[in-house]
Amino acid sequence: MSKPIDLRGAAEPHQLHPAEKPGVLVKAGAGPVLQATRIAKWFGDNHVLRGASITVWPGETVCILGRSGSGKSTFLRSLNFLEDPTDGRVEIDGVVVNADPFHTEGKDRAERIRELRMRAGMVFQEFNLFPHLSVIGNCIEAPILVKGMARKEAEAIAEKYLEKVGLLDKRDEYPSRLSGGQRQRVAIARALTMQPKVLLFDEPTSALDPTLVGEVLKVMADLAHEGRTMIVVTHEMDFAHEAADRVYYMDQGEFVEVGPPEQVIDAPQDQRTRDFLARFRTLGTKK
Ligand SMILES: Nc1ncnc2c1ncn2[C@@H]1O[C@H](COP(=O)(O)OP(=O)(O)O)[C@@H](O)[C@H]1O
Ligand SMILES: [Mg+2]
Repeated sequence: MSKPIDLRGAAEPHQLHPAEKPGVLVKAGAGPVLQATRIAKWFGDNHVLRGASITVWPGETVCILGRSGSGKSTFLRSLNFLEDPTDGRVEIDGVVVNADPFHTEGKDRAERIRELRMRAGMVFQEFNLFPHLSVIGNCIEAPILVKGMARKEAEAIAEKYLEKVGLLDKRDEYPSRLSGGQRQRVAIARALTMQPKVLLFDEPTSALDPTLVGEVLKVMADLAHEGRTMIVVTHEMDFAHEAADRVYYMDQGEFVEVGPPEQVIDAPQDQRTRDFLARFRTLGTKK
């Protein structure tokens, strides 16, 4: 009898790309904190992710570059199952969730997705703050509701991170009274208050007025340098160059080039990466 095909993508072990080596801040002997293995996604007939894998060690910052529509957001959202991948496997801090397109797994999987989400904090392009909650209210909502944290403890942690992003004085303000840059810094403090193992940023400065981009990148660079683990989808080449241990270039749902920023950004090997960066430079988007 032939062996049934494993449609969950868990049959083969995770493989490192040759350019995936622990970054400078990774403690000797530490294993990866995040492994996404051959993530695939179909939206109807649209094959959006074609087996994208990534490995991230604790303390690393990795950046994902790629054209609009190449699948970057879908990949990032698949890491915490905001998007349900069609195939593949995600492991974060020991919690494993496989793709389950036919819904054969039950409650146990839903619980693991919950565990996974507590380990992966997300910062979106559009901030996604609750307009009816104050700054501190936004920060403590998930720790109290999802983690069951006591209000006092959640507030103390949130205040620590609001101070870190330079907004403790806006603690009781409402999002509508903040600038876009301040809102995004609150969103970062909110993600940090959950004390995640890895922070996922999806083009966090793309919706901002250009004058406000710098204050958000500064906070992110500080987090990178203090050894937070971060995956950042961005078009900010200077940030990627300065902060990233590794850069992944995505094209049509695959990572076609992986390496240190000095290679992928300054001396790309793959023609698709070259074309993208050349276009970028002529557009003058580089600040
Ligand atoms: N919810 C969805 N339903 C159908 N198609 C989608 C959905 N989200 C994204 N797509 C499609 O997937 C492709 C990749 O989108 P996305 O991951 O947003 O790319 P990127 O973030 O690199 O711009 C695009 O063709 C997009 O139209
Ligand atoms: Mg996107």
